[in-house]
Amino acid sequence: MRRQPSLHENRLASCGGLLLALFALALTTACTDRMTSSDDRWSRGGELIAMSGGEGGARYACVTCHGARGEGNGFDAPRLAGLPTGYLQKQMEDYATGLRAHEVMRDVARFLDSHERVRVANYYAALPPLALTPATEEVIAATTPGLYASACQQCHGVDGVGTVNGPPLNAQPALYLAQQLQDWQVSKRRNDGNHVMLKVAQQLKPEEVTQLSLYLSRIPPRPAPAAR
Ligand code: HEC
Ligand code: HEC
Repeated sequence: MRRQPSLHENRLASCGGLLLALFALALTTACTDRMTSSDDRWSRGGELIAMSGGEGGARYACVTCHGARGEGNGFDAPRLAGLPTGYLQKQMEDYATGLRAHEVMRDVARFLDSHERVRVANYYAALPPLALTPATEEVIAATTPGLYASACQQCHGVDGVGTVNGPPLNAQPALYLAQQLQDWQVSKRRNDGNHVMLKVAQQLKPEEVTQLSLYLSRIPPRPAPAAR
């Protein structure tokens, strides 16, 4: 079990993280000045965590895997830019508790305290929605939008932009989306209230998982109409 860091240790560590990130930015402000200054400390804190990884250090810096602007890596790490803040924060809590099982993200989340998770969620939610252009150009089965409309749209919105009942799915990497659906099929991911996604996913055939994921990954990123 990883030891939960104390508040005091977190302070010290995020001070170190601050220094790292400040070097990266070639800023000259001293760490102590930053810690006590009251200007935009809230959002600034989230950006520094994104760049430095907080107490976990550089290998847990979000930008390494989720891209410099939260666009994702087009593969297994999703875009975070422009996702609803409540959704992002919930995922961080769920990774920390293991309700959503993923070794790397569990460690990432556990090195942050709950305030830092809120800050980093706010930071990514405020970024303009952005994603990598899909690398593949397979033909999408013509029936896919129909399946999406009947089985998913009520919660994930027209074109997958999200609603209050489900997060955006558009412009996420196809591989990432398929992985999530497969994780639900075997109950590896089980952080959905009332098992809505478990029930949905278990009705999907393997080829439908692939088609829906490819379809959604190709819809351009745009702001979610309703925050969650
Ligand atoms: C070493 C790579 C790596 C690092 C560093 C990393 N992530 Fe992740 N992250 C991933 C991967 C891979 C996934 C997909 C995990 C899964 O399948 O559940 C993920 C998933 C997520 C999700 C779920 C998004 C969604 O749409 O459900 C959030 C939120 C997230 N990461 C936030 C962060 C934050 C914040 C940081 C920095 C504090 C961070 N990550 C650092 C690799 C990384
Ligand atoms: C009754 C509402 C509902 C329906 C219908 C529904 N979903 Fe979801 N879905 C959710 C909720 C809620 C979540 C977020 C769960 C959480 O908090 O982690 C989610 C999450 C997801 C995710 C993970 C997103 C991410 O960033 O990790 C994928 C992928 C997904 N749904 C795909 C689908 C597909 C494909 C369909 C149709 C076949 C569908 N969903 C139908 C409610 C729904």
